[in-house]
Amino acid sequence: MNAYELAGAAANSLRERAGVDSFDVALVMGSGWLPAADAIGEVAAEMAVTELPGFAPPAVAGHAGRVRATVTASGKNVLIFLGRTHLYEGRGVDPVVHNVRTAAAAGVRTVVLTNAAGGLRPETQRVGEPILISDHINMTGQTPIVGATFIDLTDVYTPRLRKLALEVDPGLTEGVYLALRGPTYETPAEIRMFRTIGADLVGMSTVLEAIAAREAGAEILGLSMVTNYGAGLAGEPLNHEEVLAVGAATAERMGHLLAKVIDRI
Ligand code: HPA
Repeated sequence: MNAYELAGAAANSLRERAGVDSFDVALVMGSGWLPAADAIGEVAAEMAVTELPGFAPPAVAGHAGRVRATVTASGKNVLIFLGRTHLYEGRGVDPVVHNVRTAAAAGVRTVVLTNAAGGLRPETQRVGEPILISDHINMTGQTPIVGATFIDLTDVYTPRLRKLALEVDPGLTEGVYLALRGPTYETPAEIRMFRTIGADLVGMSTVLEAIAAREAGAEILGLSMVTNYGAGLAGEPLNHEEVLAVGAATAERMGHLLAKVIDRI
């Protein structure tokens, strides 16, 4: 079975278990975003991702490795991935984008990708603040696409959805997300380079999922939560616990933002 067929099998299993023919929206909850999931809608079904074909068990604290089928107040069927697989786990690219491919195979046309990120603009960004991803710089050295499939990435993060998010929360700012393989955080010299080349946020996820979602023809909304400033910008060492704590503190605002955006998609 190739990666796309495996996603088709996972989608079928998900449909059956949730008793839903087709899903409208998929939401990928990154580090720190998990507590926000409860605000999205009524839970119809929830399972460990490992109960579905092709999903790897979670490797990181704060990534629950579960998938939830929810129904919003307006009746939208939303698939919520509580946690994701990262490139730094060393399983390769296909497991990283299996969530998005499964969602697309289950009918999803809109993918909302969330993550925790280091802020590269302490002048204008605050820790705990959600930032709309306007574009990305893929420095993972990887892509989920194999072969001569040339995908346009001019508007990876759908302008219509960004506009909608801004209508829901006019205080949102936008930024360019730069992705690395990890798991090391960056050096101060790297952070200075990333600022110079036009990045506003740095993290270890999202871009490969966004590319896979574009390949599947889905629309994408990306949201980063600034959990810390990039190495060397704040003068303090970085740690994963800090990232999770910021998420827990801001979950409610994020949940309401996501719920409102999804209802208007
Ligand atoms: N760098 C990379 N990934 C991250 C960071 C960071 O500073 N914060 C949260 N995820």
